Amino acid sequence: MKGGGSRTRITTLHIAEKYDLRVPRYTSYPTAPHFSAAVGEEQYRGWLAALDPAEPISLYTHIPFCDSMCWFCGCYTKIVGRYEPIHAYLVTLHEEIRLLAAALPARLEARHMHWGGGSPTMLRPDDWLALIDLLRAHFDVTADAEIAVELDPRDTTEAYVAALARVGVNRVSIGVQDFDPEVQAAINRDQPFAVVERVCGWLRAHGIQRINLDLMYGLPHQTVERVLSMVDLAVSLDPSRIALFGYAHVPWMKSHQKLIDEATLPGAAERWRQLTEATRRLGELGFHAVGLDHFARPDDGLSTALTSGRLRRNFQGYTTDEATTLLGLGASAIGSLPQGYVQNAAPLHDYSRAIESGRLPTARGIALNADDRLRRRVIEELMCGLAVDLDAVCADVGGDAEALAAGLGRLTPLVEDGLTHIDGHRILVTDAGRPFVRIVAAAFDAYLDVGEKRHSRAV
Ligand SMILES: C[S@@+](CC[C@H](N)C(=O)[O-])C[C@H]1O[C@@H](n2cnc3c(N)ncnc32)[C@H](O)[C@@H]1O
Ligand code: SF4
Repeated sequence: MKGGGSRTRITTLHIAEKYDLRVPRYTSYPTAPHFSAAVGEEQYRGWLAALDPAEPISLYTHIPFCDSMCWFCGCYTKIVGRYEPIHAYLVTLHEEIRLLAAALPARLEARHMHWGGGSPTMLRPDDWLALIDLLRAHFDVTADAEIAVELDPRDTTEAYVAALARVGVNRVSIGVQDFDPEVQAAINRDQPFAVVERVCGWLRAHGIQRINLDLMYGLPHQTVERVLSMVDLAVSLDPSRIALFGYAHVPWMKSHQKLIDEATLPGAAERWRQLTEATRRLGELGFHAVGLDHFARPDDGLSTALTSGRLRRNFQGYTTDEATTLLGLGASAIGSLPQGYVQNAAPLHDYSRAIESGRLPTARGIALNADDRLRRRVIEELMCGLAVDLDAVCADVGGDAEALAAGLGRLTPLVEDGLTHIDGHRILVTDAGRPFVRIVAAAFDAYLDVGEKRHSRAV
């Protein structure tokens, strides 16, 4: 027993450190660092005009404001202490909605609306009413549309939750990260458990039953024990989904992360243990593992989409949204269209200046070629279902499975370590390999500059 235990520990350390690589999260393919100014407003307008009026679309709106900075934060946001900049932004956002609607070939149906940030809860209740009314004026928002909001529980009152419910919000994702006071102090996010518990109660009382909690591992001072008690506390709130993100420490891109003392960060092996133990505990507590970092109750849409092969991955992570077009609104928002990806200008002054002069604020993007579409499909299948059959994908979208399989040699170490099985052109990521699925996906990434520092750790 003893010998087996220590052998397991050595193997664990070995694997965690061996695969401590930096790879993209693949919320798109090609990934955002490969977008360029070669795609601008003119091309985007052409893509919009060519959309099929019979196809439903989805909308993502970015609200890039928060009232205090969490030191771990990797999102595009700006700290504001006053409401005036938010008001000015909303005036511009309203104009962007009108410009975008005017560029479409018809009034399109919208079945999903996602509000992210930053903290969309920086908006006032009246702002929600005005924005959702405007979107309803320009799009056919279906009666059963999913209207999802990322919610900072520290900004939220019961009156606020009631206002969200009134405008039709029916799904929320609450930023928790961890409940432990020492961890919270080290990330500048004071948020007692009782605050989150109260918000969950208000949401349910006002009919918003679909609740996701965002948790993180790999944060300063986190240990396996603390991560497990974080998971237990989260599950006690009875969410339908939990997202468990590995802290992406990229201080070369997000300078406020330098405020985190690196000596307090768990190393590669400890991160791996936190993830695997949390995954095990969530399984014991009745959650299905979905893709890289999501967990869902068996009756939640993510679990059923996974079982039926309809799970998708987009910029918001894992989703049941099957629309082929996601239109992005707001500074830095990314859109995904059949022809390719576009991203709005991120600096607020660039974003506003474009719209004030009657232009869509498209700053960059990428047009997809046939090889991109093929690899995108392979990578999405891997990231969602942890398996792909290259022959089936090539038969469906066209392509040469033999040429795709040329990259499989790179996976030999993962096969030897029992993290991946390869059977001809079929690739299957094992349960043990789930944390490393980004590395398997990266074997099909034709743009990847191996070892580039800009990405976060694989686990
Ligand atoms: C836009 S925030 C959620 C809404 C709201 N701003 C809040 O924090 O309550 C999106 C989520 O991204 C995750 N996140 C942010 N920075 C991250 C990082 N550096 N690494 C991993 N996950 C991160 C956090 O779990 C966070 O809840
Ligand atoms: S984690 Fe959320 S609240 Fe904190 S700074 Fe980032 S976007 Fe704002």
